[in-house]
Order: sequence, then structure tokens, then C-alpha cells
Amino acid sequence: MKLIRRLVMVFASLAVIAASAADAPPAAGTQAAPALRPIPGITAEDPFPRGCVDCHVNMPDRKMDARFSTLMKQWENAVDPALLARVQPFAPSGVVLKGKHPKSNVASADIPTSCIGCHAAQRKAAPSFDRMIHGLHLTGGDKNHFLTEFQGQCTYCHKLDTASGAWSLGHGKEAP
Ligand code: HEC
Ligand code: HEC
Ligand code: HEC
Repeated sequence: MKLIRRLVMVFASLAVIAASAADAPPAAGTQAAPALRPIPGITAEDPFPRGCVDCHVNMPDRKMDARFSTLMKQWENAVDPALLARVQPFAPSGVVLKGKHPKSNVASADIPTSCIGCHAAQRKAAPSFDRMIHGLHLTGGDKNHFLTEFQGQCTYCHKLDTASGAWSLGHGKEAP
């Protein structure tokens, strides 16, 4: 009698263990871990180590010149109305953008350091740089080429120093 009761208790506790084992994640080593997500500069090669200026280049084969010196020349003349409409929400409240960029010598400047400095100094007239740049690259879903072609990768702009854990922005002078 005693023995049977003890066996029943043993079976009952085994059943509990079996049930919890079924709910538990697979034990380590029984299933391969998923492949690392490729994160440029962290788990994968970074094709744009200098950020902005490594991606905004002249691409004659695609008949596209995305250099800041080229864009700036257009903006100093007149900003495309579609771009102006996209940027207006990032302007300081109460400020209506003129649609004409102040003159600046971007071709010889460090980008985005010089852009950020001026956008901060002229913050009563210029859109906040972080909001504007995030807004231009990370909104609009499949209509936005930064999301479709470049997967919206934060680390194409933001660089991690894996030794110190510090973040900075990729930067430099644009190629002539
Ligand atoms: C890896 C590529 C890449 C990097 C790095 C990058 N951009 Fe861009 N950028 C793009 C693409 C693609 C677009 C077009 C997005 C769209 O479809 O609206 C764009 C659009 C822009 C525009 C709007 C231009 C226009 O005429 O519509 C500005 C301004 C801009 N980027 C500035 C910057 C700045 C400043 C940096 C660095 C802080 C930067 N970008 C980094 C790819 C990049
Ligand atoms: C001399 C100071 C200054 C510098 C340098 C500067 N900005 Fe601006 N930026 C402004 C001001 C002021 C505005 C608002 C212009 C307006 O009212 O249309 C502006 C507006 C813009 C706009 C919105 C379009 C427009 O002209 O209204 C974009 C995009 C822009 N800046 C990108 C950049 C980038 C990229 C750089 C660096 C390559 C840069 N800016 C450097 C002052 C500056
Ligand atoms: C196209 C370039 C670009 C991309 C892509 C980008 N950033 Fe940024 N980010 C910037 C710039 C430029 C600043 C402004 C830095 C400054 O003002 O010193 C900034 C600033 C920031 C800041 C500090 C200021 C703030 O707005 O709070 C955070 C947080 C940030 N980014 C997070 C992200 C995350 C998360 C992603 C990816 C989902 C991302 N960024 C993608 C360019 C980029």
C-alpha cells in the first residue's frame, strides 16, 4: 500500500516535470541559435564608415548626383517644393521655411559637423538637424529609398566604438 502510494507520487511529479519541460524553451545545445542579424559596423562590414559623405556621392551610372555640394547649390537657389513640404514639420514652431538655403561652403566643410553646428546656432530659423535627418530617412515606408535600399540602418550614420562603447556620427569631407 505504502509502496503504491509512493509510486503514484513519483509518477505525479514526473508528469509535472514532463509538462513543464514541454513548455520550456529547448535546452542549450539542442537547437542551433539563429544567425546573427547583420548590423553594419557591429556584426557586418560597414560600407559607409564616414556616414553621410560616403553614401551621398555622385553616381553617373545612375544619372544621380547626391553630393551635398550639388544639393546645396539647388537649395541656395530654390528648395524643391516636395522637399520643403517634407521638412516644414521639423522647423521650429511658428517658423515658415523660406525655401532658400543660406549660402555655405559645404564642399570644403566636415559633414555633418558643420551642418549640425549651424543648424544649432540658427535654431530659431533652421530645422532641428536630428529630427530633420531622421524624418527624411526613416519615414514614408516603402516610398523612402533609405528604407528600401539601405534597410533604414541606424549604423550607416551612427558609429559604435566597440572598444569604449561610445557612439559618434560618421563624418568627413565629401569627395570632389
Ligand atoms: C547609406 C546611405 C545614406 C546615408 C549614410 C545618408 N543618407 Fe541622406 N539620403 C539617402 C537616401 C537614399 C535619401 C533619399 C530618401 C528618400 O527616398 O526620400 C537621402 C535623402 C537625404 C536628404 C534629402 C535630399 C533630397 O533632395 O530629398 C538629405 C538632406 C540627406 N539625405 C542628408 C543626409 C545627411 C546629413 C546624412 C548624414 C548625417 C545622410 N543623409 C546620410 C541615403 C543616405
Ligand atoms: C549657414 C548655416 C547653415 C549651414 C552651414 C547649413 N544649414 Fe541647412 N538650413 C539653415 C537654415 C537657416 C535653414 C532654413 C532655410 C529656410 O528657411 O528655407 C536650413 C534648412 C535646411 C534644409 C531644408 C530645406 C531649406 O533650405 O529650407 C535642409 C535639407 C538643410 N538645411 C540641410 C543642410 C545640410 C545637409 C547641411 C550641411 C551640408 C546644412 N543644411 C548646413 C542653415 C544652415
Ligand atoms: C541618415 C543618418 C541617420 C540615421 C539613419 C539615423 N540617425 Fe540618429 N542622428 C543622426 C543625426 C545627424 C543626429 C544629430 C546628432 C547631433 O545633433 O549631434 C542623430 C541623433 C540621434 C539621437 C540623439 C538625438 C535625438 O534625436 O534624440 C538618437 C537617440 C538617435 N539619433 C537614434 C537613432 C536611431 C535609433 C536610428 C535608427 C533607427 C537612427 N538614429 C538613425 C543621423 C541619423
